Amino acid sequence: MNAAVLHAFNESPRFEEFSEPIADENEVIVHVRAAALKPVDKQMASGSHYAAFRKLPVVCGMDGVGCLDDGTRVFFVSPRPPYGSMAQRTIVSPSHSFPIPDNIDEDIAAAIVNPGLSAWGALAWRAQLAAGETVLILGATGVTGKLAVQTAKLLGAGRVIAAGRNEQVLSTLHDLGADSTIRLDKPGQDLTETFAREAGDAGFDVIIDYLWGPPTEALLAAIARKDLNPALSRVRLIEVGESAGPTISLAAAALRSSKLEILGAGSGNAPASPEIWLEAIRQLLSNVASGKLRIDTERVPLREVEDAWQRDQHGWRTVIIP
Ligand SMILES: NC(=O)c1ccc[n+]([C@@H]2O[C@H](COP(=O)([O-])OP(=O)(O)OC[C@H]3O[C@@H](n4cnc5c(N)ncnc54)[C@H](OP(=O)(O)O)[C@@H]3O)[C@@H](O)[C@H]2O)c1
Repeated sequence: MNAAVLHAFNESPRFEEFSEPIADENEVIVHVRAAALKPVDKQMASGSHYAAFRKLPVVCGMDGVGCLDDGTRVFFVSPRPPYGSMAQRTIVSPSHSFPIPDNIDEDIAAAIVNPGLSAWGALAWRAQLAAGETVLILGATGVTGKLAVQTAKLLGAGRVIAAGRNEQVLSTLHDLGADSTIRLDKPGQDLTETFAREAGDAGFDVIIDYLWGPPTEALLAAIARKDLNPALSRVRLIEVGESAGPTISLAAAALRSSKLEILGAGSGNAPASPEIWLEAIRQLLSNVASGKLRIDTERVPLREVEDAWQRDQHGWRTVIIP
């Protein structure tokens, strides 16, 4: 079968022949229709992700949309290595495949489930966002950040502040529900002052952080108080991604002078129950069908995966079509 095959970390996968998957009694074959090319796929292929591949060669792709042998259309995650989603066929555990409704395009379903559930999980499950609260999204110009802006509004956020670098994408975020925007491409001290101005006296209740690195350091400097007064309210910072850097320097005073709480949102703290995922995917796709959630996609044939791997995406998701 044709597949996107990775031979060495930090290289792009190549379009080539790979062995057919053979399912054991606890697995199912998926005939893949669409697989999104996400940051996590690149992190896995570069060896930089905490769960990066242990053995090469492998077929790239963590999830996708396809059909089972009986024709059921499913979204699936975590194919068994060395098989991946960027191939004509792959292999998964039945508990990792979720039927999807007929009224959703397969490229939209393939593109939206990972960032959509991540945005939902960070806001609803980890931050426990309450109606009326103020939310700051760091990295709001990315695919997942754009969905976080929309999801925060859907969940009843009072005010959503979207922070990003790309001016053109930033200017579209008001249409998705952002009440104000912050340009991140400025020196650290200026950025800290901008965050402090946007926070005002009431502060941010929830921060969803796709960046980490220098923008987060500038933000934490704005959250740290410069007096001995008790902070008025909790600040829940949910760390989801590391597009701007894998580490930060964290001043101890930022934690003592504020009610800052830092949590992560990712595979290690996601719900384990397939029923919860099935219901979350159903709800997500129903919001897509009714137009409450939008994602921009670009379809690319599997044979062009090597080129697509090198290209930057600015606010849209590339979907590989086998
Ligand atoms: N934990 C999870 O379950 C989970 C799920 C989904 C995503 N994520 C992670 O979240 C992050 C974003 O994902 P995505 O899907 O939104 O990716 P994306 O569509 O590629 O967007 C990347 C974002 O990062 C910004 N960015 C990149 N380099 C930057 C830098 N040096 N300084 C400031 N901003 C920078 C981009 O800003 P501009 O476009 O404005 O330049 C854009 O907002 C990734 O690290 C991804 O792995 C994690």
